[in-house]
Amino acid sequence: MATQVDDPYGIKKEELIKDSGVRTIFTPNKPINSIDLFMGRKDIVKSVIEGLNTPGQHLLLYGDRGVGKSSLANITVSILDNSDMVNGKLITKRCSSQDTFETLANELIEEYINEPYLSEKIISSKHKEEAGAKIMGIGASLGNETQSSKKFIYSNDITPSNIAKLLKDKKGLYLIDEFDILEDDKDKHNLAQLIKLLSDYQSPFKIFVVGISQSGTDLTAGHPSVNRCLKEIKLERMTNKEIKDIIDNGMKKLSIELSDQVNSLIIGICNGYPHFAHLIGLKCAEEAIINSIKKITKSSFVNAIDNAVKDAEGTLKRLYDNATQNASETKKRNIQLILKACSTCNHDDFTINDISKKLKNYANELSNKTVSDYIRQFTSDNSDSILRRIKKGVYRFNDPRMVSYIKMKENLLERDRLALKHGEI
Ligand SMILES: Nc1ncnc2c1ncn2[C@@H]1O[C@H](COP(=O)(O)OP(=O)(O)OP(=O)(O)O)[C@@H](O)[C@H]1O
Ligand SMILES: [Mg+2]
Repeated sequence: MATQVDDPYGIKKEELIKDSGVRTIFTPNKPINSIDLFMGRKDIVKSVIEGLNTPGQHLLLYGDRGVGKSSLANITVSILDNSDMVNGKLITKRCSSQDTFETLANELIEEYINEPYLSEKIISSKHKEEAGAKIMGIGASLGNETQSSKKFIYSNDITPSNIAKLLKDKKGLYLIDEFDILEDDKDKHNLAQLIKLLSDYQSPFKIFVVGISQSGTDLTAGHPSVNRCLKEIKLERMTNKEIKDIIDNGMKKLSIELSDQVNSLIIGICNGYPHFAHLIGLKCAEEAIINSIKKITKSSFVNAIDNAVKDAEGTLKRLYDNATQNASETKKRNIQLILKACSTCNHDDFTINDISKKLKNYANELSNKTVSDYIRQFTSDNSDSILRRIKKGVYRFNDPRMVSYIKMKENLLERDRLALKHGEI
């Protein structure tokens, strides 16, 4: 193994890791694009395909952050594409906070600009100056036109009804991911309106919307009559079997084995979130590759968890650290135990009573009043704190992935406590 002395910048380690290809197998920070790495979810993929193949029906896939929405959308669309079922153009858009209905529609206008209906509405840049009107450039060079005569379209013309007319007889599929990021409900409402009109026209053009949400209504801004033509599918967390499949599939490709104990620890930590299966899988595999070991047991697993916590998403770290910072050692440990208790309640919402019951398992006898006082310090009614108060006496983690982060932290704290007991630190 390369040591700190002969590999001060970790270049040799990085080379070993790069050669192994592990970072293309375990990808905690990017959605799956290859069917070979896509585990489980068969029934949902089937249901999405059925929806998109039903005349007049469009699709909305929603769920908690990080449950695997983009991966499922990517894989479904590539299955459809490979089987020629899209039968037309495939347009993919990942939204950013700058996007609006107009920018989403512009992607379509750029694809279908030769359509006669909109061409009538297009005016030249010369006319733009004359009209002095509010216009927006779509930046497309148009078919036979010369480069110098870039065309413009009135932003007022980009309405659901005009876009629906444009797409009336078109074949194609428009995948809009991260739709939740659009801030203005008016934009969401306009997209819902477009979907409704496409359905009314019996257009073969399909829209597939993906976003983080607890309910479909949030993403359609409560549009009243879109429900009939929009198949809503909620993506839930993965089953333990699916999480195990992600780990097994990746480790098999790398010829690395995990002890049964490590396997069940990983499944417990993941809590159904594929992101953590990839993060911990990656760190375990890197540990094996760097140290030339073929089987991961508890001792290498804890090192891997240490690295996984270091690489965990900033928001999770910040919310956890904010709850525990500036506290004395005793107070800090009490907070850590309370958070651990919250993370082991088997449902999303919990009460002070639930927490106190769990605390008894850790031989911690804090009174309900003390638990309640602590909880108040790191709870709010918005997303700035680790816990959110749902209603009087009922709490929930603001980010549902926090459960996994706390479980990883607790593995490290347990290691440190054991080392302290044995006089190692
Ligand atoms: N079916 C799957 N099989 C294997 N890995 C998966 C699967 N689904 C998701 N993943 C992995 O889980 C992680 C999160 O997936 P993805 O980005 O698709 O989730 P998301 O719900 O779109 O997240 P966000 O809410 O942040 O947009 C990624 O590392 C991805 O590679
Ligand atoms: Mg996503």
